[in-house]
Amino acid sequence: MTDLRPQPARAELTDLRADGAAALEWAARYLERVGELPVLAQVAPGDIRARLPKTAPEEPEPFADVLRDLDEILLPGVTHWQHPRYFAYFATSSSEPAILAELLAAALNSVAILWRTAPASTELEGVVLDWVADLLGLPAGWHVHIEDTASTSTFAACVAGREATGRDLIVCSEQAHSSVDKAARMLGMRLRKVPVDAEFRMRTDALGDLSDAAVMVATVGTTAVTAVDAVGVLADACAGSGTWLHVDAAYAGAAMVCPEFRWAFDGVDRADSLVVNAHKWMLTPTDCSLLWTSRPEDFRRAFSLIPEYLRTPDAEDALSLSEYGPALGRRFRALKLWAVLRCHGRSGLERHIRSGVELATRFERWVAEADGWELCAPRRFSVVCFRLQGEDERNRALLERVNASGEVFMSHCVLNGRYVLRLAIGQMSTTEDDVRRAWEVLVREAARL
Ligand SMILES: Cc1ncc(COP(=O)(O)O)c(C=O)c1O
Repeated sequence: MTDLRPQPARAELTDLRADGAAALEWAARYLERVGELPVLAQVAPGDIRARLPKTAPEEPEPFADVLRDLDEILLPGVTHWQHPRYFAYFATSSSEPAILAELLAAALNSVAILWRTAPASTELEGVVLDWVADLLGLPAGWHVHIEDTASTSTFAACVAGREATGRDLIVCSEQAHSSVDKAARMLGMRLRKVPVDAEFRMRTDALGDLSDAAVMVATVGTTAVTAVDAVGVLADACAGSGTWLHVDAAYAGAAMVCPEFRWAFDGVDRADSLVVNAHKWMLTPTDCSLLWTSRPEDFRRAFSLIPEYLRTPDAEDALSLSEYGPALGRRFRALKLWAVLRCHGRSGLERHIRSGVELATRFERWVAEADGWELCAPRRFSVVCFRLQGEDERNRALLERVNASGEVFMSHCVLNGRYVLRLAIGQMSTTEDDVRRAWEVLVREAARL
């Protein structure tokens, strides 16, 4: 008779203990030396692909070969988000407890399609997110679950808002994240953009008629300048028109762990839904987007779809978090967040946020005091928007040169029609020396233009 079992001689090429130790050593060593690598990958499109085989291997290969190729082929094509001088977009850290928890989550391989397929994952998710709600000063008792990204969270909120109101218009400011445009496009909903004031906040005197608005998306910490919309005023307007209020605090929400930033959450307790990304400023690797709602039944009406083969007793069905969002299979993301909260504690998160803001404050001062440079928006948290006085072209060329140096990585935005540079601090290994180096590179490259 043919033996159909996997052939052990080849399967044993991976040894979890030995290869795991080597992988862990690789990770530890990587984190120790990442600061010496060029931040922005110094490769051209297609370079990495060209170095990889076109087909999968016919026979099993040892895991050691995977690690070798990670070093030799892939590493040159990595832009290092874990680098202390990563200052682009929103800098973020994957901290050690979360790295280890990701390994354990993959070992457990819980798939939370239903409460019964993953009771621990489902219940830990609720508990850990209640902890976060407490840390951020949110109302107790809101329903919460984890989505992959803020884009998905905002999409889901728009679905729930449309379901609850029966309307098809989304309203947001012209500084809202593009995920709102994308949600509107995917849902076939109309989108109205409200102009912003001099500080890039949604103009509350320009909201227009909201009587046909399904969803208003307010932003606490906009993508370009981290402006904070007046959520309380917008909550009043939404209450008057029966509009669903979704608050996008993907980046800045994490800062609410520090009481001195809570002013930015004024009125958030009146939102219908709120998204905060743990994978931006909360020491947790992507993906981990936290979506709260004060109206869980609307989410459930919008998303619940249980075919017979997934039916369980009602009391269990109600606990399945797949009932509240687009995905059926949900991975054990709460484990890494749990590890982060336990191993950093409230005090660790506070220190991380305060250090980012303090470093940004120093950088802002250097720019303000330097001839030929200008600040372009009020700084609220850890992002500074600035530029060389003069033409856009000089600023564009400057950013190219700075990023090509490999010493730092920054990004840009356009404000009032002008090209603006952004320095975003959020990596936990960033020190004052790193921020000073960024300033020195900017000044040096500006002189060479
Ligand atoms: C304010 C805001 N909302 C949403 C997003 C989208 O986040 P994600 O990548 O998790 O979809 C971003 C990304 O930077 C953002 O700045």
